[in-house]
Amino acid sequence: MLPRRRRPLGLCLLLLLLLLPLPGAPGHRGAAKPWEGTDEPGSAWAWPGFQRLRERLRAAGALSKRYWALLSCQVWPDDCEDDGEAAAGPPGWSLPLLGQQYLDVLTTWYCSFRGCCHRLDCRISNNFTGLESDLNVRLHGQHLVQKLVLRTVRDYLELPRPDKALALSFHGWSGTGKNFVARMLAENLYRDGLKSDCVKMFIATFHFPHSKYVDLYKEQLLGQMQETQQLCPQTLFIFDEAEKLHPGLLEVLRPYLERQVPEGHRAKSPRTIFLFLSNLRGNIVNEVVLNLLKAGWSREDITIEHLEPHLHAEIVESTDSGFGHSCLVKDNLIDYFVPFLPLEYRHVRLCVRDAFLSQELQYTEEALDEISRMMVYVPREEQLFSSQGCKSISQRITYFLP
Ligand SMILES: *[C@@H]1O[C@H](CO)[C@@H](O)[C@H](O)[C@H]1NC(C)=O
Repeated sequence: MLPRRRRPLGLCLLLLLLLLPLPGAPGHRGAAKPWEGTDEPGSAWAWPGFQRLRERLRAAGALSKRYWALLSCQVWPDDCEDDGEAAAGPPGWSLPLLGQQYLDVLTTWYCSFRGCCHRLDCRISNNFTGLESDLNVRLHGQHLVQKLVLRTVRDYLELPRPDKALALSFHGWSGTGKNFVARMLAENLYRDGLKSDCVKMFIATFHFPHSKYVDLYKEQLLGQMQETQQLCPQTLFIFDEAEKLHPGLLEVLRPYLERQVPEGHRAKSPRTIFLFLSNLRGNIVNEVVLNLLKAGWSREDITIEHLEPHLHAEIVESTDSGFGHSCLVKDNLIDYFVPFLPLEYRHVRLCVRDAFLSQELQYTEEALDEISRMMVYVPREEQLFSSQGCKSISQRITYFLP
């Protein structure tokens, strides 16, 4: 909770904003200027004008009290005594359109330097239009991911009272876009993207390198997750290199992923999304895709039903990885296994083009081809899939610069 003594600063600004004359603001049109209506020009203190000014100020004072109540309800909802009523506006008093705009501007301004992590949290942007556009425009060759990620995330975040966290497990070779999609999610769901207070990213070999310390890591992980959830009603936890996570560590996540009995009239249900990124059984994805392509299927006609059952079964069977062993997989706590397809030459070429564009560099069709050909394509016979996907393409284009 924020300390109360900070509030006067906000109040001063609020009053200032309210006193600025704005066209169409309540009372503006009707109120005469204080010096009007006097016989003597220049007599600003003449009685009728002065009285009107005083009335205006009193009205502004009453108005700002209400604004203050509404603003503080937006920013500190826990302090709202009368929850529903205050949110909708005091009885018999509806906020004029301009007033609502003021309130939104003010809330955004306030939250830009004081984190406010509550209902109407301005750090949470949930821009599904942006997410959809990023998935369609910036991600190449992943038609299954595009649909599945957008749909599951949007459906989950639009649930009025989710009773569990959402867990998505991304599988595929390196360079196919798993990290890229995780970043797109962070950037479109949170104002500050991966740097947001509401987002935490863990890399198995970096954050939890030694299996002998698993008990310590468990404590740390739990502590960090609880802290983040206290700050934010909607959190995103990303686990990179998930195949290398100790199964004991994943045990910590179990309570989040099991359905909770709804708690009476609790005002807020926290929303939590877990992303697990791994190349675990990426080979299976590639194998299935290769066989379908050889059988004459077009890539875009491959459906999730072609892949998910194989992928799921193989992951459950995988004895070589902690992730496959973990309770999350064994007890079916992962909501979706999302397959990232291996990338072909034409996709790599699009990545190369994007890399030129993002660095605002000129490119030629020949350069795109030349750089795309530098990647290694497998299997040896078909030479169909880029073994590194679109990885480190931006480094490669630097060789081509004059
Ligand atoms: C959502 O994202 C799109 C595309 O990035 C952007 O044009 C739009 O302004 C964003 N909307 C909001 C409300 O931030």
